[in-house]
Amino acid sequence: MTKTTVYQNAPSRKEVAKQIGHKCLVSRRNFLVGTGATTVTIMVTLNAGTADAKQVPAQVTTYPRKLIGTLSELKQDKPLDFNYPDDGAHSECMVVKLGVQAGGGIGADKDVVAYNYACTHQGNSLSGSYKAETKSLGACALHLSTYDLTRHGILISGQAYQSLPQILLEVEGDNIYATGIFGLIFGRDDNLHS
Ligand code: FES
Repeated sequence: MTKTTVYQNAPSRKEVAKQIGHKCLVSRRNFLVGTGATTVTIMVTLNAGTADAKQVPAQVTTYPRKLIGTLSELKQDKPLDFNYPDDGAHSECMVVKLGVQAGGGIGADKDVVAYNYACTHQGNSLSGSYKAETKSLGACALHLSTYDLTRHGILISGQAYQSLPQILLEVEGDNIYATGIFGLIFGRDDNLHS
């Protein structure tokens, strides 16, 4: 059950906005637009299959579609860094051409994949730990977790127990776009809120 607390003498949003010149008040919608996320309205059916069935509008937040690089600039086993889905905590990611086919891989050889850098154990950055010989990220400097980039970031060894979040990619011509995330970024309870 949701508990709502009402502060009897608290000023209204309008009054606060007047006092501070609207500088700090950000609506949820503006926040989402400002962070690159997109909100769309879809129709959903309530009480489907019953006499009370009705269509109601619902707002859904979707991942931003972000250009992160081009196929032609990628060199095998040389990761390129980018931030996704925003520039907030643990948003550092990498895209790499593995040279071998990989789960979720894009491009002619299905060997281009992208992952978030934050170790799923305690959030240590895996930046700089790519190993061309094993197509892996790690071992993490803190507790040695290592992730297989050919198999959706599954844990190979170490103390983590979750796969590394994989960035979903799309290709359009030579351009590579990030369009979503498979898995939860460390430290977030929602990938779209850092
Ligand atoms: S933070 Fe990476 S293994 Fe513990």
